[in-house]
Amino acid sequence: MNDLRNNFKLAKNTIDPNKVPKKKLYTGDEIPAVGLGTFGSDRFTKEQIADAVLGAISNGYRHIDCASVYENEPEIGEVLDIAIKGGVPREELWITSKVWNDMHGEGDVLVSCATSLRDLKLDYLDLYLIHWPYPNYHAPGCDGDSRNPDAKAFRKDEFLSTWRQLEQLVDMGLVKNIGTSNMTIAKFDEVWDDMRIKPAINEMELHPHFQQQAFYDYCINKNIQPIGFCPIGSPTRPDRDKTENDTVDIEDPVVITAAKRLGVHPAVICVKWAAQRGQIPIPFSVKENEYRGNLLSSMIDPLTDDEMEDLSKINKDCRLIKGQVFLWEGANDWKDLWDVDGVIAK
Ligand SMILES: NC(=O)c1ccc[n+]([C@@H]2O[C@H](COP(=O)([O-])OP(=O)(O)OC[C@H]3O[C@@H](n4cnc5c(N)ncnc54)[C@H](OP(=O)(O)O)[C@@H]3O)[C@@H](O)[C@H]2O)c1
Repeated sequence: MNDLRNNFKLAKNTIDPNKVPKKKLYTGDEIPAVGLGTFGSDRFTKEQIADAVLGAISNGYRHIDCASVYENEPEIGEVLDIAIKGGVPREELWITSKVWNDMHGEGDVLVSCATSLRDLKLDYLDLYLIHWPYPNYHAPGCDGDSRNPDAKAFRKDEFLSTWRQLEQLVDMGLVKNIGTSNMTIAKFDEVWDDMRIKPAINEMELHPHFQQQAFYDYCINKNIQPIGFCPIGSPTRPDRDKTENDTVDIEDPVVITAAKRLGVHPAVICVKWAAQRGQIPIPFSVKENEYRGNLLSSMIDPLTDDEMEDLSKINKDCRLIKGQVFLWEGANDWKDLWDVDGVIAK
């Protein structure tokens, strides 16, 4: 257990949160431009992840990306409570959570949000996301080949009934901003006009080998701020999420060259590229030197125009989180989840 739990204080060399860049959302709220991920890829205990959250806050992080399906919100809630009681103003923190696929039904979103609030020991969330845009459930940690016989293709009416519940959470003051995750352009086009409160954020996979330029531009044009998950290419993700064609961002020569110039780990270049391009990266790490380096990366020594240009050219369309466990009977393969030809697969 982290000493900070008994005696919370800011690290001696804490990074001043006021100097970390922020992004202004269309709602007027400002969100720190780098956050900390909390999905431990089954490699760390809940306590280790909670310790990392507390250490990260002590070091200057103010943006934490949580989700009920990560099954560690109660442990993270304990350390948020310690940090807030230890002097970090609640208003300085940006806490995200997400409704999991088995809680999309009528009335369930409120229950799920209330559970996250109770677990995180908060009375409001800064951001609440629909984690995946369909109610196809799979148990946390299940095998990559497992399929749920009840899984169905995306349905506009189903999605919108879930979205209405998120809108109610805003009306009730439980949530300040709402958004989506794992969406596509085609799905946004289908539901956009019927969204009374427009999404402030779309959380999407973004790293140098998976830049999703068209979708990124689409979000920016619609005033949706992208948050980029797996910003380092999730090099230590679970084996069930790996395929033999996947590429490794931190081994890319362009990333390595920039890392050598700046004297940092290639992972830091991935985070730096993300923040400099404009999405909000949420790198995960439980190691203090790593999470400090990731936060600092957004504040010092910008990548040069040439480096940004070179990095823009190493996209390999390499999606890592393919989502195959959400496929429904009759679907061809994981590409059906991502509407690659611009049409929603039925
Ligand atoms: N919305 C969604 O559907 C969704 C999906 C996936 C992820 N997410 C969110 O995105 C977060 C980040 O994604 P991720 O955890 O899969 O991948 P990631 O952040 O791309 O990669 C994390 C790994 O990179 C390594 N790393 C981090 N900082 C480093 C540094 N400075 N130097 C060297 N290595 C470093 C660490 O490996 P070691 O531990 O070996 O040091 C760490 O485990 C998740 O935690 C979660 O909050 C959301």
